[in-house]
Amino acid sequence: MTSTQTGGLSSGGDIFSRFHLKNFSGRLTNRSLIGVLGWCLMLMLLGIDSVSAAEAADMANIEPDKQQPALAAFLIVVCSVFIPWMLNYVSPGVRTMGTLLASLSCFTIVAWFVFTLSTGVIDNPKPAVIPTDAAKPLLMWTLASVALVAGCFLLLLSVRQSRRRDSLALPLRNENARYGKISRYLHWTTALLFLSLIPMGIFTTMIPEDASFRLNYYIVHKTIGVTVFCLVLIRLWWNFLSRRPALDPSLSRWERRLAHGVHIALYGLMLGFPLTGFVMTTFHGYPTFFFLWEVPVLWSQNPNAVLIWGVVHKVILPYVFFVIIGGHILGALKHQFIDKHEGAFKRIVS
Ligand code: HEM
Repeated sequence: MTSTQTGGLSSGGDIFSRFHLKNFSGRLTNRSLIGVLGWCLMLMLLGIDSVSAAEAADMANIEPDKQQPALAAFLIVVCSVFIPWMLNYVSPGVRTMGTLLASLSCFTIVAWFVFTLSTGVIDNPKPAVIPTDAAKPLLMWTLASVALVAGCFLLLLSVRQSRRRDSLALPLRNENARYGKISRYLHWTTALLFLSLIPMGIFTTMIPEDASFRLNYYIVHKTIGVTVFCLVLIRLWWNFLSRRPALDPSLSRWERRLAHGVHIALYGLMLGFPLTGFVMTTFHGYPTFFFLWEVPVLWSQNPNAVLIWGVVHKVILPYVFFVIIGGHILGALKHQFIDKHEGAFKRIVS
């Protein structure tokens, strides 16, 4: 391991020496980092603002425009690519900034939730069609609370991380015991986009039919959904080119089977969500959006098929996901903190 930073952690040092940013291998200066950070913040705020700007345009009876929701989707994708790149950067200072930005993203979800409260949709959603619809306001509050807790956790983590001095020399390809850069970028970008789609999808289904901003949410949701689908295909292809690291040898037989099953289920969900969303949308007679492009409706409408595919996309997959992701996170925490397998997180996180 090589060390890429100079300057230590002095009690009277400024934030930059504290975050070990004095020497960024000559590639990023402190000033440019402030620029990057400011830019990211601006992107996130713009992402929210562009939806409300589109809403304003709609209210003025301007033909619904695909440009603003496509821009909002683009900004969300840019942030989801940028954060994993920072999280896996060689210098510890940049990795700390990445964690800080990840925490900021969680707070942005909370801010977005507060914004949605102001629209009145959470209190007066579209009338419930199926029993699980009634649980949506509570589900939104729960997801916003989880985002708040995750944001605080990541903030604390970034403070702890700021004391680290070790460089992260990662190869592009996977190694026997840990993932390489490409797998990590794909993993975290897909995860961030996927996680953003859950509250967004639930909120979208709550928006009353006559709300001016409804279409914007559908465009953003479908665009990011298709992006996730493409990323998962790339990831499967990459797994084929660069073998994934073997499971931790300290796992017992049943733990290995469970971990293997959970991985397969997560891939199934990441492919199943966009595929069922696309099929449901098409049977409805609506187009699928990918940024400014519109995928034409490929077959004729069928209300019965909408119902079947809708139940899979809107009920079965989300609840299966909540159970599996809960198990996945609890398993990783048990592995790290109860079994004390120090390397558990390090295989995919710094
Ligand atoms: C990884 C990708 C995706 C995830 C995680 C996801 C997740 C969700 C979730 C959680 C909901 C809310 C369900 C509810 O509470 O009723 C939803 C709704 C919806 N999704 Fe997706 N989705 C994805 C991709 C797609 C794609 C690619 C499309 C279409 C091309 C799509 C179309 C829709 C539509 C139209 C709704 C709303 C249906 C309604 O208004 O009743 N989704 N999605």
